[in-house]
Amino acid sequence: MPTKPKSPYLPFGDQQTAPWYGKNILSVKQFNRADLEYIFSVAHEMRVMVERIGTFDLLKGKILANLFYEPSTRTFASFMAAMQRLGGAVIPISEVRYSSVAKGESLPDTVRTLAAYADVIVLRHPEVGAAALAAQFAGKPVINAGDGVGEHPTQALLDVFTVKEELGRLDNLTVTMLGDLKYGRTVHSLARLLTRFDNIKLNYVSPELLRMPREVMEEVAEKGIPQKEYTVLDEVLPVTDVLYVTRVQRERFDNLEEYEKVKDAYVITPKTLEKAKQKMIVMHPLPRVNEIDMEVDKDPRAAYFRQMEYGLYVRMALLAMVLGKA
Ligand code: NCD
Repeated sequence: MPTKPKSPYLPFGDQQTAPWYGKNILSVKQFNRADLEYIFSVAHEMRVMVERIGTFDLLKGKILANLFYEPSTRTFASFMAAMQRLGGAVIPISEVRYSSVAKGESLPDTVRTLAAYADVIVLRHPEVGAAALAAQFAGKPVINAGDGVGEHPTQALLDVFTVKEELGRLDNLTVTMLGDLKYGRTVHSLARLLTRFDNIKLNYVSPELLRMPREVMEEVAEKGIPQKEYTVLDEVLPVTDVLYVTRVQRERFDNLEEYEKVKDAYVITPKTLEKAKQKMIVMHPLPRVNEIDMEVDKDPRAAYFRQMEYGLYVRMALLAMVLGKA
């Protein structure tokens, strides 16, 4: 339960009737297809505006608290850039070591504090469910920027937006996820989100040790999406429209010997892509370690650096939505 009731008075100029006003973004489970189309249309407008004028004042006077308990480059920087491109300000906390967390402050208390100063909180945390917990105490919108091995909803939104912008469609797709499907939260969110579209086929390619969690597969199966598991890529690559590569998540292993065994299980090279379609894309949430050879970067099908840019527009859209300006 929120510890502080929401004020009945709205900050001047907020659109109370905007459907996403004041909402949390905790899981991809909360989005239906119409929501996705709406988010992508706003993200597309953001892209056009950034390309035309760079920065504009839609969120002038608003403050974002960017609270990260785990390392991040893209998610942290893109939320910050998103807020600043919309004319808002940011409280950046990426080193919780230097905040009162180091003195033993609990997540609820830290979140209550930031909610007193900011209008929206973006949280990355090592525990599953941390964003949902934070949302109970914030009384302000909380956006989940990754909760341990749980979900990473804004990444899945930008991943799907990338597919739409790059391939021009979201139906009739064969998506192959490769690598660490057990600990990679991005694929947990992405598999769930892809169930919103028609005629999707999912392939999971991973070492035995790093298979997609049963819980995610069951949810996807309930929506009638066909899923197949493999340990090698060869068979599915020629029919793949989106190859989604992930990093083996070293920090999630209890046993580093096991990590050593699987860390280089797959490496995509220009030779690998000889067997792929001409019109397909290779995605990766980044950071990449060894799983995609740098030579692949020159291939026009390598979409991962464009993907990271689409993240800016999707995060601008989400901030504008939850703050009642879209
Ligand atoms: C991912 C994450 O944090 O889950 N990174 C990101 O946000 N783009 C993927 C990863 O760390 O491998």
